[in-house]
Amino acid sequence: MTKLNITDTILRDAHQSQAATRMKLSDMLPALEKLDKIGYWSVECWGGATFDVCMRFLNEDPWERLRAIRKAMPNTKLQMLLRGQNILGYKHYADDVVDAFVKKSIENGIDVIRIFDALNDPRNMEAAMKACKKYGGICEAAMSYTVSPVHNEEYFVNLAKTLEEMGADVICIKDMANLLLPYSAYSLIKKLKETVKCPIHLHTHNTTGTGDMTYLMAAQAGVDIVDCALSPFANGTSNPATEALVATLQGTQRDTGLDLTALADVAKHFRSVADKMKADSILDPKVLSVDTKTLIYQVPGGMLSNMISQLKQAGKEDKYYDVLAEVPKVRKDFGYPPLVTPTSQIVGTQAVMNVISGERYKMVPKESKALLRGEYGKLPGEVNEEVRKQCIGDDTVITCRPADQLEPELEKYRKEAGVLAHSEEDVLSYALFPQVASKFLAEKYAEKKTVDENTVRTLYVEDVSL
Ligand code: CO
Repeated sequence: MTKLNITDTILRDAHQSQAATRMKLSDMLPALEKLDKIGYWSVECWGGATFDVCMRFLNEDPWERLRAIRKAMPNTKLQMLLRGQNILGYKHYADDVVDAFVKKSIENGIDVIRIFDALNDPRNMEAAMKACKKYGGICEAAMSYTVSPVHNEEYFVNLAKTLEEMGADVICIKDMANLLLPYSAYSLIKKLKETVKCPIHLHTHNTTGTGDMTYLMAAQAGVDIVDCALSPFANGTSNPATEALVATLQGTQRDTGLDLTALADVAKHFRSVADKMKADSILDPKVLSVDTKTLIYQVPGGMLSNMISQLKQAGKEDKYYDVLAEVPKVRKDFGYPPLVTPTSQIVGTQAVMNVISGERYKMVPKESKALLRGEYGKLPGEVNEEVRKQCIGDDTVITCRPADQLEPELEKYRKEAGVLAHSEEDVLSYALFPQVASKFLAEKYAEKKTVDENTVRTLYVEDVSL
């Protein structure tokens, strides 16, 4: 076995998980030159929620952010997270939009695209994977990890084989809820290493406190790459700390080769960013504590807090444990979708409604119906047909690739965006978030140099001169 490679998530998942994705480009720039010298396999810096948050809350152009990071980090592979046919939005897009978005992401500086689908339906990943290969990106196909009677080792091994046949360069196990326990990780990685040739990249969090142990066991089993975050934004709902793993493996067969002193130096900068966010209450220290509820209910932490707030709104907080008991039943009825955005919200909301209305499936939100109609893709297990009938009546259930029902739509978005868009990138921002982008682009081009932009420039220049 050779060295273990590390991807650092400090510029994306780390602050998305701990600080509502609020890290600004100006918080990143002073550290990028040093970050570039660490020797990571890649740095995850874009995609996920960052695109939306940039425009919606930070008055930042996500494409400009990417170009600035690319410029400051010429030696490190830049990685992004992409939700397959949903790109970075919340619905299926036509293939031409997926293709154009992937093309522009790579053109603006992305090297590695991690592509996933909430239901693990490879048909929802196909267009993005093809585009990634076509434009010269490293195609990392991710399997959303979950635990259910359908989601056993054999399921993930078969899925990995399919993704490899589809052209994946790297296979990722994406354990967003920290459900993959250390010994299961060992066993799964061993099996995957025996069956697929692609490098295996493991992504977990430390929500339930088992993340570091999972990485250690995965390293023993031969995993190729793991996702860590520099300590100031590590652990709790975020990924395990980079420095702890680097120290653990020093002098062993899996030595990462990374220098702890250099890591400490970059971490120092991000510690000051984290401290500022704590002072501004953007980073709530609550996200740092170990939450063991997931170990018992196998429901991600974020989903539990959603359900609690829905119950509060309905004045039925006393029904919390009834809802917890209802979640696995709904999940079974719906064919065991992994509990990840958006299916975690759909299953959670349906469970809450089943309990507070006093009758199962009396109230059925349109998202539940769409899921049962197959609009999100193929559900992994058997759907309870009685429940399906009760929810959608005689509606047709889609069995084809959902995006096959969509006509090309890039031209439509280009027309709609009209003079607001000054570039193809602007058209894509508009396609993904029409309302948010309209407002953002109008303001951006109305007054070209905002105070914020000037601050960013000054900071960057100052840092480069140091
Ligand atoms: Co994550």
